[in-house]
Amino acid sequence: MSENKAWVIETHDLDRVYGDGDLIRALDKVNIRIAAGELVSVMGPSGSGKSTLLNVIGALDRPTGGDIFVNGENLATITDLDNFRARSVGFIFQLHNLLPTLTARENVEIPMTGHVPAAERGKRAKELLDLVGMADRMNHLPGQLSGGQRQRVAIARALANNPPLVLADEPTGSLDTANGQELMRLLRDLNEEQGTTFVVVTHDPAVARQTKRVLVMQDGKIVREDIIGSPDEEDLKMWRHSNLGKQILAGTELHLLEEKLSSSELKAVKKALSVANGKS
Ligand SMILES: Nc1ncnc2c1ncn2[C@@H]1O[C@H](COP(=O)(O)OP(=O)(O)OP(=O)(O)O)[C@@H](O)[C@H]1O
Ligand SMILES: [Mg+2]
Repeated sequence: MSENKAWVIETHDLDRVYGDGDLIRALDKVNIRIAAGELVSVMGPSGSGKSTLLNVIGALDRPTGGDIFVNGENLATITDLDNFRARSVGFIFQLHNLLPTLTARENVEIPMTGHVPAAERGKRAKELLDLVGMADRMNHLPGQLSGGQRQRVAIARALANNPPLVLADEPTGSLDTANGQELMRLLRDLNEEQGTTFVVVTHDPAVARQTKRVLVMQDGKIVREDIIGSPDEEDLKMWRHSNLGKQILAGTELHLLEEKLSSSELKAVKKALSVANGKS
Protein backbone atom coordinates (compact mmCIF):
# COMPACT_ATOMS: atom_id res chain seq x y z
CA MET A 1 0.00 0.00 0.00
CA SER A 2 1.36 3.38 -0.87
CA GLU A 3 1.56 5.99 1.79
CA ASN A 4 0.54 9.54 1.14
CA LYS A 5 1.85 12.42 3.20
CA ALA A 6 -1.09 14.63 2.23
CA TRP A 7 -3.22 12.73 4.73
CA VAL A 8 -2.66 13.12 8.44
CA ILE A 9 -4.74 9.97 8.87
CA GLU A 10 -5.36 7.32 6.27
CA THR A 11 -6.79 3.89 7.05
CA HIS A 12 -7.19 0.86 4.81
CA ASP A 13 -9.85 -1.68 5.83
CA LEU A 14 -9.14 -1.12 9.49
CA ASP A 15 -10.49 -3.87 11.79
CA ARG A 16 -10.56 -4.19 15.56
CA VAL A 17 -12.20 -7.41 16.64
CA TYR A 18 -12.68 -8.36 20.30
CA GLY A 19 -13.20 -11.81 21.78
CA ASP A 20 -12.67 -15.28 20.38
CA GLY A 21 -16.15 -16.83 20.64
CA ASP A 22 -18.83 -14.31 19.79
CA LEU A 23 -16.76 -11.74 18.01
CA ILE A 24 -17.38 -8.07 18.52
CA ARG A 25 -16.42 -6.05 15.48
CA ALA A 26 -15.62 -2.73 17.13
CA LEU A 27 -14.10 -1.58 13.83
CA ASP A 28 -15.21 -3.26 10.64
CA LYS A 29 -13.25 -2.36 7.48
CA VAL A 30 -12.98 1.34 8.21
CA ASN A 31 -11.52 3.50 5.46
CA ILE A 32 -11.02 7.14 6.25
CA ARG A 33 -8.80 9.94 5.05
CA ILE A 34 -8.30 13.10 7.01
CA ALA A 35 -6.23 15.90 5.55
CA ALA A 36 -3.88 18.24 7.37
CA GLY A 37 -5.76 21.14 8.95
CA GLU A 38 -9.16 19.44 9.00
CA LEU A 39 -11.57 19.70 11.93
CA VAL A 40 -13.60 16.50 11.85
CA SER A 41 -16.16 15.09 14.26
CA VAL A 42 -17.20 11.48 14.76
CA MET A 43 -20.75 10.68 15.85
CA GLY A 44 -22.76 7.50 16.27
CA PRO A 45 -24.63 5.46 18.88
CA SER A 46 -23.00 4.15 22.03
CA GLY A 47 -20.87 1.11 21.21
CA SER A 48 -20.51 1.99 17.53
CA GLY A 49 -16.71 2.09 17.73
CA LYS A 50 -15.87 5.79 18.08
CA SER A 51 -13.47 5.48 21.01
CA THR A 52 -11.92 2.37 19.49
CA LEU A 53 -11.24 4.33 16.31
CA LEU A 54 -9.51 7.14 18.23
CA ASN A 55 -7.49 4.70 20.33
CA VAL A 56 -6.28 2.83 17.28
CA ILE A 57 -5.41 6.03 15.40
CA GLY A 58 -3.48 7.28 18.44
CA ALA A 59 -1.67 3.93 18.81
CA LEU A 60 -3.15 3.36 22.27
CA ASP A 61 -4.64 0.16 20.86
CA ARG A 62 -3.61 -2.05 17.95
CA PRO A 63 -5.90 -2.98 15.07
CA THR A 64 -6.52 -6.67 14.39
CA GLY A 65 -6.53 -6.06 10.65
CA GLY A 66 -5.90 -3.42 8.02
CA ASP A 67 -3.43 -0.57 7.93
CA ILE A 68 -3.24 2.85 9.41
CA PHE A 69 -0.97 5.66 8.33
CA VAL A 70 -0.39 8.76 10.40
CA ASN A 71 1.47 11.48 8.51
CA GLY A 72 2.33 8.84 5.93
CA GLU A 73 3.89 6.54 8.52
CA ASN A 74 2.50 3.01 8.83
CA LEU A 75 1.85 2.48 12.54
CA ALA A 76 2.55 -1.25 12.19
CA THR A 77 6.18 -0.47 11.34
CA ILE A 78 6.83 1.89 14.26
CA THR A 79 8.76 0.21 17.05
CA ASP A 80 8.90 3.09 19.53
CA LEU A 81 5.22 3.93 19.94
CA ASP A 82 5.78 6.11 23.03
CA ASN A 83 8.04 8.32 20.98
CA PHE A 84 5.54 8.35 18.10
CA ARG A 85 2.72 9.48 20.40
CA ALA A 86 4.87 12.15 22.02
CA ARG A 87 5.83 13.54 18.61
CA SER A 88 2.65 13.21 16.64
CA VAL A 89 -0.52 13.04 18.70
CA GLY A 90 -2.21 15.02 21.45
CA PHE A 91 -5.04 13.37 23.39
CA ILE A 92 -8.00 15.02 25.09
CA PHE A 93 -10.26 12.68 26.99
CA GLN A 94 -13.46 13.34 28.86
CA LEU A 95 -11.87 12.43 32.17
CA HIS A 96 -9.01 14.84 31.84
CA ASN A 97 -6.57 12.76 33.88
CA LEU A 98 -4.70 15.72 35.30
CA LEU A 99 -2.35 14.73 38.09
CA PRO A 100 -4.00 16.08 41.26
CA THR A 101 -0.79 16.89 43.12
CA LEU A 102 0.69 18.98 40.30
CA THR A 103 -0.28 22.54 39.39
CA ALA A 104 -1.89 23.38 36.05
CA ARG A 105 1.48 24.51 34.74
CA GLU A 106 3.29 21.37 35.91
CA ASN A 107 0.61 19.20 34.34
CA VAL A 108 1.17 20.91 30.99
CA GLU A 109 4.94 20.41 31.35
CA ILE A 110 4.71 16.62 31.75
CA PRO A 111 4.59 15.63 28.07
CA MET A 112 7.69 17.76 27.39
CA THR A 113 9.74 16.07 30.11
CA GLY A 114 12.81 14.32 28.81
CA HIS A 115 13.19 16.12 25.52
CA VAL A 116 12.65 19.81 26.26
CA PRO A 117 14.98 21.65 28.71
CA ALA A 118 13.31 22.61 32.00
CA ALA A 119 13.43 26.39 31.45
CA GLU A 120 11.85 26.06 28.03
CA ARG A 121 9.18 23.69 29.36
CA GLY A 122 8.04 26.26 31.89
CA LYS A 123 7.93 28.98 29.25
CA ARG A 124 5.97 26.90 26.79
CA ALA A 125 3.52 25.72 29.47
CA LYS A 126 2.89 29.35 30.36
CA GLU A 127 2.26 30.28 26.71
CA LEU A 128 -0.14 27.39 26.25
CA LEU A 129 -2.10 28.17 29.41
CA ASP A 130 -2.31 31.75 28.22
CA LEU A 131 -3.63 30.50 24.88
CA VAL A 132 -6.48 28.63 26.57
CA GLY A 133 -7.28 31.56 28.86
CA MET A 134 -5.81 30.01 32.00
CA ALA A 135 -2.78 32.28 32.56
CA ASP A 136 -4.18 33.50 35.87
CA ARG A 137 -4.72 29.97 37.20
CA MET A 138 -1.32 28.48 36.35
CA ASN A 139 -0.35 27.68 39.90
CA HIS A 140 -3.67 26.16 40.92
CA LEU A 141 -4.07 22.45 41.55
CA PRO A 142 -6.74 20.62 39.48
CA GLY A 143 -8.93 20.37 42.60
CA GLN A 144 -9.03 24.17 42.75
CA LEU A 145 -10.34 24.50 39.18
CA SER A 146 -13.80 24.13 37.67
CA GLY A 147 -14.55 21.29 35.23
CA GLY A 148 -14.32 23.64 32.24
CA GLN A 149 -11.03 25.06 33.49
CA ARG A 150 -9.58 21.58 34.02
CA GLN A 151 -10.63 20.70 30.50
CA ARG A 152 -8.77 23.74 29.18
CA VAL A 153 -5.63 22.70 31.07
CA ALA A 154 -6.00 19.26 29.48
CA ILE A 155 -6.11 20.93 26.07
CA ALA A 156 -2.98 22.94 26.82
CA ARG A 157 -1.32 19.67 27.83
CA ALA A 158 -2.47 17.96 24.64
CA LEU A 159 -0.82 20.76 22.65
CA ALA A 160 2.43 20.75 24.66
CA ASN A 161 4.54 19.04 22.02
CA ASN A 162 2.89 20.94 19.19
CA PRO A 163 1.30 17.81 17.73
CA PRO A 164 0.01 18.05 14.15
CA LEU A 165 -2.94 15.91 15.25
CA VAL A 166 -5.20 16.13 18.31
CA LEU A 167 -7.66 13.35 19.15
CA ALA A 168 -10.51 14.32 21.49
CA ASP A 169 -12.97 11.80 22.95
CA GLU A 170 -16.13 13.63 24.07
CA PRO A 171 -14.19 16.66 25.26
CA THR A 172 -17.40 18.56 26.08
CA GLY A 173 -19.12 15.57 27.71
CA SER A 174 -18.70 16.79 31.27
CA LEU A 175 -19.24 20.48 30.51
CA ASP A 176 -22.41 22.57 30.56
CA THR A 177 -23.63 24.06 27.28
CA ALA A 178 -21.84 27.39 27.68
CA ASN A 179 -18.49 25.82 28.58
CA GLY A 180 -18.92 23.26 25.82
CA GLN A 181 -19.49 26.00 23.23
CA GLU A 182 -16.49 27.93 24.54
CA LEU A 183 -14.32 24.85 24.31
CA MET A 184 -15.37 24.26 20.71
CA ARG A 185 -14.59 27.89 19.88
CA LEU A 186 -11.12 27.31 21.29
CA LEU A 187 -10.60 24.18 19.18
CA ARG A 188 -11.80 26.05 16.10
CA ASP A 189 -9.40 28.93 16.79
CA LEU A 190 -6.48 26.55 17.24
CA ASN A 191 -7.49 24.76 14.07
CA GLU A 192 -7.65 27.99 12.09
CA GLU A 193 -4.65 29.77 13.60
CA GLN A 194 -2.19 26.89 14.04
CA GLY A 195 -3.50 24.47 11.44
CA THR A 196 -3.79 21.70 14.04
CA THR A 197 -5.87 18.77 12.78
CA PHE A 198 -8.63 17.74 15.18
CA VAL A 199 -10.73 14.59 15.35
CA VAL A 200 -13.49 15.08 17.92
CA VAL A 201 -15.81 12.30 19.08
CA THR A 202 -19.11 13.69 20.31
CA HIS A 203 -22.73 12.79 21.04
CA ASP A 204 -23.77 16.41 20.78
CA PRO A 205 -25.07 17.59 17.38
CA ALA A 206 -24.34 21.19 18.42
CA VAL A 207 -20.67 20.25 18.86
CA ALA A 208 -20.57 18.37 15.57
CA ARG A 209 -22.03 21.41 13.78
CA GLN A 210 -18.98 23.39 14.91
CA THR A 211 -16.75 21.10 12.87
CA LYS A 212 -16.47 20.98 9.12
CA ARG A 213 -17.08 17.29 8.46
CA VAL A 214 -18.97 14.66 10.43
CA LEU A 215 -18.19 10.96 10.15
CA VAL A 216 -21.13 8.88 11.35
CA MET A 217 -20.37 5.40 12.73
CA GLN A 218 -22.62 2.43 13.29
CA ASP A 219 -21.66 -1.15 14.17
CA GLY A 220 -17.98 -0.45 13.62
CA LYS A 221 -18.46 1.08 10.19
CA ILE A 222 -18.50 4.62 8.81
CA VAL A 223 -22.04 4.69 7.46
CA ARG A 224 -22.30 8.33 6.47
CA GLU A 225 -20.33 11.49 6.04
CA ASP A 226 -21.81 14.99 6.30
CA ILE A 227 -20.17 18.19 5.21
CA ILE A 228 -21.22 21.05 7.44
CA GLY A 229 -22.23 24.22 5.63
CA SER A 230 -22.67 27.75 6.90
CA PRO A 231 -25.17 28.22 9.80
CA ASP A 232 -27.85 29.38 7.31
CA GLU A 233 -27.34 26.34 5.14
CA GLU A 234 -27.53 24.11 8.20
CA ASP A 235 -30.82 25.70 9.26
CA LEU A 236 -32.24 25.12 5.81
CA LYS A 237 -31.08 21.51 5.87
CA MET A 238 -33.03 20.98 9.09
CA TRP A 239 -36.12 22.52 7.58
CA ARG A 240 -35.87 20.21 4.60
CA HIS A 241 -35.93 17.25 6.98
CA SER A 242 -39.37 18.02 8.45
CA ASN A 243 -42.73 18.02 6.73
CA LEU A 244 -43.71 21.39 8.11
CA GLY A 245 -40.30 22.76 7.17
CA LYS A 246 -40.77 21.51 3.61
CA GLN A 247 -44.22 23.14 3.40
CA ILE A 248 -42.87 26.39 4.73
CA LEU A 249 -39.99 26.25 2.27
CA ALA A 250 -42.51 25.68 -0.50
CA GLY A 251 -44.31 28.80 0.70
CA THR A 252 -47.61 27.00 1.36
CA GLU A 253 -47.59 27.25 5.15
CA LEU A 254 -46.01 30.61 5.66
CA HIS A 255 -49.09 31.87 7.53
CA LEU A 256 -48.21 29.45 10.38
CA LEU A 257 -45.11 31.51 10.99
CA GLU A 258 -46.84 34.85 10.65
CA GLU A 259 -48.60 34.35 13.99
CA LYS A 260 -45.46 33.28 15.79
CA LEU A 261 -42.74 35.59 14.55
CA SER A 262 -42.09 39.29 14.91
CA SER A 263 -42.16 41.30 11.71
CA SER A 264 -38.37 41.51 11.57
CA GLU A 265 -38.04 37.75 12.10
CA LEU A 266 -40.61 37.12 9.42
CA LYS A 267 -38.71 39.40 7.07
CA ALA A 268 -35.53 37.39 7.73
CA VAL A 269 -37.39 34.13 7.05
CA LYS A 270 -38.80 35.46 3.78
CA LYS A 271 -35.33 36.54 2.75
CA ALA A 272 -33.92 33.10 3.63
CA LEU A 273 -36.74 31.48 1.66
CA SER A 274 -36.01 33.49 -1.43
CA VAL A 275 -32.33 32.51 -1.17
CA ALA A 276 -33.26 28.87 -0.59
CA ASN A 277 -35.74 28.73 -3.43
CA GLY A 278 -33.31 30.52 -5.70
CA LYS A 279 -30.81 27.78 -4.88
CA SER A 280 -33.00 24.76 -5.23
N1 LIG B 1 -11.68 -4.09 25.78
C1 LIG B 1 -12.81 -4.50 25.17
N2 LIG B 1 -13.15 -5.80 25.17
C2 LIG B 1 -14.27 -6.24 24.53
N3 LIG B 1 -15.10 -5.43 23.86
C3 LIG B 1 -14.80 -4.13 23.83
C4 LIG B 1 -13.66 -3.58 24.49
N4 LIG B 1 -13.63 -2.24 24.27
C5 LIG B 1 -14.72 -1.96 23.53
N5 LIG B 1 -15.43 -3.08 23.26
C6 LIG B 1 -16.65 -3.17 22.45
O1 LIG B 1 -16.39 -2.59 21.19
C7 LIG B 1 -17.52 -1.84 20.74
C8 LIG B 1 -17.13 -0.42 20.46
O2 LIG B 1 -16.78 0.23 21.66
P1 LIG B 1 -16.38 1.78 21.74
O3 LIG B 1 -15.90 2.05 23.11
O4 LIG B 1 -15.46 2.07 20.63
O5 LIG B 1 -17.79 2.48 21.46
P2 LIG B 1 -18.17 4.04 21.43
O6 LIG B 1 -18.75 4.32 20.10
O7 LIG B 1 -17.00 4.85 21.87
O8 LIG B 1 -19.33 4.11 22.52
P3 LIG B 1 -19.70 5.26 23.58
O9 LIG B 1 -20.45 6.31 22.78
O10 LIG B 1 -20.60 4.56 24.54
O11 LIG B 1 -18.44 5.78 24.19
C9 LIG B 1 -18.58 -1.99 21.83
O12 LIG B 1 -19.46 -3.04 21.46
C10 LIG B 1 -17.78 -2.37 23.05
O13 LIG B 1 -18.55 -3.15 23.94
MG1 LIG C 1 -16.61 6.06 23.57
